[in-house]
Amino acid sequence: MKIPDPSQPLRIGVAGSGFAAKFHCEYYPASGVQLSGVTSARAENREKFAVAHAMKAYTTVEAMLPHIDVLDICTPPSSHAGYIEAAAKAGVHVIVEKPFTGFYGSPETNSKPAMLRAVVDESKRLRDVVRRGGINFGYAENFVYAPSIQKEREIVEKTKAQILRMTGEESHSGSHSPVYGIWSIQGGGSLIAKGCHPLGAILYLKRKEGITRNGKPIRPAAVSARTHSITKLQGFEDKGFLRTKYHDTEDYSFLHVIFEDGTVADITASELVLGGIYDFVEVFANNHRTRCKMSPVSVVDLYSPSHAEFKDLELVEKITTNEGWIPVSPEDGWSNGCRKELDDFVNAFRLGNAPESDLDLAIDTTLTLYAGYVSADEKGREAQVPLI
Ligand SMILES: NC(=O)c1ccc[n+]([C@@H]2O[C@H](COP(=O)([O-])OP(=O)(O)OC[C@H]3O[C@@H](n4cnc5c(N)ncnc54)[C@H](O)[C@@H]3O)[C@@H](O)[C@H]2O)c1
Repeated sequence: MKIPDPSQPLRIGVAGSGFAAKFHCEYYPASGVQLSGVTSARAENREKFAVAHAMKAYTTVEAMLPHIDVLDICTPPSSHAGYIEAAAKAGVHVIVEKPFTGFYGSPETNSKPAMLRAVVDESKRLRDVVRRGGINFGYAENFVYAPSIQKEREIVEKTKAQILRMTGEESHSGSHSPVYGIWSIQGGGSLIAKGCHPLGAILYLKRKEGITRNGKPIRPAAVSARTHSITKLQGFEDKGFLRTKYHDTEDYSFLHVIFEDGTVADITASELVLGGIYDFVEVFANNHRTRCKMSPVSVVDLYSPSHAEFKDLELVEKITTNEGWIPVSPEDGWSNGCRKELDDFVNAFRLGNAPESDLDLAIDTTLTLYAGYVSADEKGREAQVPLI
């Protein structure tokens, strides 16, 4: 694998200049890294972003690749595969935001089994592209790096625990992104866009359990899932607090995962939750039980008598008011794992090691979610996860 010159800072090029690009640039380690370039679809956004982060703006990813060691892909999901391929061909390491990849045709004219087959083929193709390019690959699943999940990994490894069941959730009141809710850009709705987070952490923990106890990862075997469009129900009464504009994707999903060893996990992901982003994984093992919280984290409880007084403070992601008792997140990049994630990628790329959240996890997560869509299409009938 290509190892960057250790005497030089690792040169990062960012694709995208929206929400994810902003927090990545904020959380990169302060030393050993140079934020070198940015490219984004709209000229005014990339220029503004380049000035804000003292980077050079490039008109395309292809123009930026000769000047960077790592391409950090923070663009909408439908563009991920093309950019991974371009980077691998140029011998540039890749960080890709979730979801890794998906199916970006119309859900009206393509069956869910056909989508799953296409995603299996695409995953194999991208795995080969990455291998042929001799590059390292970081799957930006921040839940893996949350301190609560890393503590649970340590407990599982040190006590050789057997995880019997897990539950997990990511929900909030609806994405800020104007292109969210469009299948041909996102590859699905709540199940893929939000379910990927708790699922990624859950698959990671079962992998670690398997490696610790039997020398090989325990992987997902089958799923049952349901998806719903609650905000499109005729009887839904819109009080204006939840986002409602979903073009052709679901706003609620439930995924039941059965692992190779017969143990299970249940994941909920939705756009229907008020009170700030709601992210957790709970583990029920044969020797312990752990509640891993990403948000709210209950580290600082603030009482604010007036929203107006506190309106400019970032207290909890996606909370709709800063009035009353607020479970403040003192630092999102710590509790949700984003800062540690970028640290791990930078270290792994420097040393030529696989990061904790790697291509294998990215592929297993994606295929499990698309098997979920196959099941949901048949109202929850069990579907096999076609692992590669
Ligand atoms: N890990 C997390 O918690 C988290 C949170 C939000 C988003 N994400 C992921 O990050 C990625 C981006 O989401 P976002 O919320 O930042 O979206 P966004 O809409 O805020 O930003 C997307 C940016 O990409 C640009 N863009 C769009 N298509 C492009 C293309 N083909 N080439 C170059 N630039 C292009 C847009 O102009 C915009 O600047 C998605 O994969 C999303 O799932 C992850």
